Amino acid sequence: MDYHATTPLDPRVLNEMLPFLKGKFGNASSIDHPYGAVAHDAVERARERVARLIHAKPEEVIFTSGATEADNLALIGAAINYRGKGRHIITCTTEHKAILDTCKYLEQFGWKVSYIPVNKLGEIDLEKLNDAICPETVLISVMFANNEIGTIGPIREIGNIAKAKGVLFHTDAAQAVGHIPVDVEEMRIDIMSMSAHKINGPKGIGALYVRRHDPRVVLSSLIHGGGQERNLRSGTQNVPGIVGMGSALEVARKSLDREATLFMSWTSRMKSAFNAISGAEQNGHPTNKLPHNLNMYFPKVESKALIQAVNKEVAISAGSACTSQEVEPSHVILALGYPAERAHSSVRFGVGRFNTVDEVKFVIECINKAISHIRKIGV
Ligand SMILES: Cc1ncc(COP(=O)(O)O)c(C=O)c1O
Repeated sequence: MDYHATTPLDPRVLNEMLPFLKGKFGNASSIDHPYGAVAHDAVERARERVARLIHAKPEEVIFTSGATEADNLALIGAAINYRGKGRHIITCTTEHKAILDTCKYLEQFGWKVSYIPVNKLGEIDLEKLNDAICPETVLISVMFANNEIGTIGPIREIGNIAKAKGVLFHTDAAQAVGHIPVDVEEMRIDIMSMSAHKINGPKGIGALYVRRHDPRVVLSSLIHGGGQERNLRSGTQNVPGIVGMGSALEVARKSLDREATLFMSWTSRMKSAFNAISGAEQNGHPTNKLPHNLNMYFPKVESKALIQAVNKEVAISAGSACTSQEVEPSHVILALGYPAERAHSSVRFGVGRFNTVDEVKFVIECINKAISHIRKIGV
């Protein structure tokens, strides 16, 4: 139930990857002999598959080591390349650390960052976003869907605002691609980060969509060397990973509608059951959210105690895996305007392809029992 942190590799994806971990070991840049040519063709096929899912052109997809690297490349790459226009970036308070920490990094070098607040449901304030745009603004970066509370952003609206003002628009879609429809053309997205392991693909592979026409986006690269990935990401390509990402997104493209309906029915079932627990409330938007996400506040139940009480049977988390080592309460729940107490008593559920309805029923039972116990002994 912690599928927002990561997901298991789909066996169909593994099968497509295996030849590239065995005999088909060529370097995708060594196209003068069959070993390299086979690897090159596989990389290009994967690029086409990724592009197809998001309505992009294959040449607009740049493979990276994951969404974190894609976020860094988007923000730092745009900041450096467009510094002549200005040094101002706009983002949102509920972003993933891969965005927030990259913004903090840029601030050290003189860039100004506006952090736009959200309301209680996690929706960004579009008026404040509009007002924050100034002649020095080079980039707006707002996530597609939140990794803790699942709220889906007004991506099309932000795309329109950015376009009207002549500002680039980046979105971190690590939790959205493959789970909900994403269309870079219709939504006027200029740059977009993706990750394979959130959608039953392998870890350590992701991609950045970089628009090539209307406008043609140019980013400075962060990694220099052999000039792979259109000079934007040097280094020998991770062929098995890239093949896995292409395969995972192709599987997702075919199963997206069916799975979204199924996962929504599971999270709705869990929500109804948990709502019967005294004081419980959902965090995030009740309907405009990722179908596989449910974030619940259980008053007087420390999330740490609840997670530990069930962790032999059920894997859940208090929030982002990248920050769950910290004692700090979730910055996302705090950004919704709630006190630290709510952030310390909220847990995230994420269902996925290899869960079953019986597991969903079991989780409801487990959580109910654990909460009664915790409240009785007063943890
Ligand atoms: C919204 C968001 N952005 C970025 C990342 C980082 O992705 P990756 O693990 O591919 O670097 C994650 C994963 O936790 C995420 O949820």
